[in-house]
Amino acid sequence: MAAFRTRVVRSIPALRDTVARWRRDGETVGLVPTMGALHEGHIELVRRSGAHCDRTVVSIFVNPTQFNPDEDLDRYPRQEEDDLKALSAAGADLAFIPAAGDIYPEGFATAVHVGRVTTGMEGTVRIGHFDGVATVVCKLFMQTGPDKAFFGEKDYQQLIAVQRMVRDLDMPLTVVPVPTVREADGLALSSRNAYLSPEQRRIAATLNRILRETARAIAGGRAIDAATAAARQALLDAGFDAVDYVECRAAADLAALETLDRPARLLATARLGPTRLLDNVPIDRPDRPAR
Ligand code: PAF
Repeated sequence: MAAFRTRVVRSIPALRDTVARWRRDGETVGLVPTMGALHEGHIELVRRSGAHCDRTVVSIFVNPTQFNPDEDLDRYPRQEEDDLKALSAAGADLAFIPAAGDIYPEGFATAVHVGRVTTGMEGTVRIGHFDGVATVVCKLFMQTGPDKAFFGEKDYQQLIAVQRMVRDLDMPLTVVPVPTVREADGLALSSRNAYLSPEQRRIAATLNRILRETARAIAGGRAIDAATAAARQALLDAGFDAVDYVECRAAADLAALETLDRPARLLATARLGPTRLLDNVPIDRPDRPAR
């Protein structure tokens, strides 16, 4: 029997035709939006979609509007052939790989802005980033029309922003959060890990350990300000070149927290050379143990 191969479409009409055919057959559709350079974290999203929906579409599009001018758009890894092999092995039905001109045609002048939950953290460090994300994700939702869309918890602020957009704009789909996939030493999988030298890779693993220790300390009653300041220092001591932020926010809506009066999330970004590493962990209330 021939091995399963993910079909590739590159145009919006071809994507819509395929999804319309599935819909006529009564099938449900899951969407996994990606920028390619797929790793096990993305493949887990594809697996989740396969478990929830009859059909899975994976979009691969390195979205220029979510990169700042000083960021890594040009050196962002592009490896379509390997991505398609991985998607075929994972059983994704369709890869949607549009050209930049199809997503942003000549004269493009519209942006989706999600307020409040995008302020601070990535929203401060990467000005305009979430407008780029919300705009392209909105377009991918309109183009595909999925029942469910799958987003990793690793980009936690992005996940909450997309959930907010879907609720605010009455988009008829469910956003399904998927837990972060990690290396054995705790490092969250990311396409940007490929940039790390062996020494940087060793330091990178301490990010998750320090976040988990800090989350435990906060759950155990340590003041949030003191705990996050200590975490910043611990990251610098571990060898990170800079720490963009370590923040404790409400898990549901990213409101700033002074005390642990509701389920929370500890989020951080730290830099090793030009590479920014993001991670976050849940903080359970003191009456429940931190995971
Ligand atoms: O998380 C990503 O890879 C991107 O931000 C996304 C959601 C595919 C939008 O370009």
